Formats: sequence, structure tokens, C-alpha cells
Amino acid sequence: MTWPLPFWVAHRGAGKLAPENTLAAFRVGAQHGYRAFECDVKLSRDGLPFLLHDDTLNRTTRERGIAGARDWAELSRIDAGAWHSRAYAGETLPSLDAIAQFCIANGHALNIEIKPTTGSELETGEVVGREVLRLWTGQPNHLPLFSSFKPDALIGAARSAPEVPRALLLDALKPGWLEQAKTLGCIGVVANYTLMDRTTIDAIHAAGMKAAVYTVNDPASAQWLISNGIDGIITDAVDRFAPAQPGGRA
Ligand code: G3P
Ligand code: MG
Repeated sequence: MTWPLPFWVAHRGAGKLAPENTLAAFRVGAQHGYRAFECDVKLSRDGLPFLLHDDTLNRTTRERGIAGARDWAELSRIDAGAWHSRAYAGETLPSLDAIAQFCIANGHALNIEIKPTTGSELETGEVVGREVLRLWTGQPNHLPLFSSFKPDALIGAARSAPEVPRALLLDALKPGWLEQAKTLGCIGVVANYTLMDRTTIDAIHAAGMKAAVYTVNDPASAQWLISNGIDGIITDAVDRFAPAQPGGRA
């Protein structure tokens, strides 16, 4: 299994410039030259994978409550753009299906962070895995990368879609993290960039995995990581980092 992402990846579509995890955000990232995107995916009550970061609708829509407690028919009508700015009013929560179609049609790579509603980790991984195999049928060389902070989500994805590459997300280096990534059959580790020192990067490489980071928005940190061997950077700052080369200064 090969690492399916280029070096620079736009976070939540295009980070802060457009409402996160919407099709509009992907379009803005693409306008800035980005060819790869990270997004957060969870399940509606009736089991449809869609994009949203939080468990609740509160922060990024004008609705309230647990998103995963509503059916897709209802979620699909919710405005997910007006909270960001008036220009994006009317932008809706996208299904994974809609994002897959955008990425496949434009040749973009995708990092699907499986972000289960609390308590549905295994099921979310399994369903998202099945959906990805359906959506990327006939594209075996352009499959997305799954990542998750939740090991059970990666176990679920491995059950239904073993051929889709996986990475373990880390927000802390707890004892056994590298062994856990290996046990989960991951081909990479994606960590908070403040955790990635030279020793950590070398340890990941020695285990035969790629080492990537989120969410780097300042040039000094990016340069330090690049000179210490990092394999990929997820950023909000699509207007600051030109994605054509690792140096990346726009
Ligand atoms: O996938 C990397 C990054 O998105 C993880 O953090 O909270 O932005 O989803 P978060
Ligand atoms: Mg994420």
C-alpha cells in the first residue's frame, strides 16, 4: 500500500477561508492549487456518511444538538455556511458521496478522517469503509486515506475495506503509540505537529511508515518539519503555502 497523498493537504476542505467541511471549502482550496483535502466524516442516524467536525451542530450551523441523532434527509437541508460569513449562506452539509464525486472528477486526493459520533466508532468505520469502496469503484490507484483518533474506527474500516490505506491520528504520544499504529495495519501516523521531533519522525520511518502532521499554519514550523524529514503537512493556510513544492511559500 502506498501513501496516497501529496505533501500539502488542505484542512477541512480549505480551513478558515470558507466554511469548513463544505463543498465550497474544497473549491476554495482547489482555487489555491491544492490537490488534496482532509475532511471529517461521521454518520447520520440512518447511516449515511457526511461531513462534520463536531458531534453537535452547534458551532457550524444554526441548529442545535447531536448531528448523528438526525436522518440525512433533515441534515442535508441544514445551512452550514451562514455561520462563517454571509457569502456562504445556503451552503449545505455535504454527503461523502458529493465530496467523492468532486474529488474523483477533479483528480484530487482525499484524507477521510473518520470522526465518529461518540459511541459509534466501530460502526462508523465499517460503514465509511463500505461507502468508500462503492464510491471509488474502478479507482483502485486513487483510493483515499483513512485516519482516525479512534482505533475502533480504524478497526471497523479495516474490516469492510482492508485495501484502503489507514493512518493513526495522535494528539499525544502515549506509551505504545507506535505499536498501536502497527497493530492497526497503518501505513502512517498523523500527529499534532508539536509532537513531531526528529526522534519521533525517525521512529515512524524506521517502522516503515510515513509521518505527517496537522495543522501547520506558520512558515517557520513548516520549514523545521520539512528539514527534519516530515512526509506531509495538513494546513488551514492555503493562501500562505503554495502546494506545488515542499517549501511551499505562496
Ligand atoms: O486529520 C487531522 C486533523 O483534522 C485532526 O484534528 O480536530 O481538526 O479534526 P481536527
Ligand atoms: Mg480532522
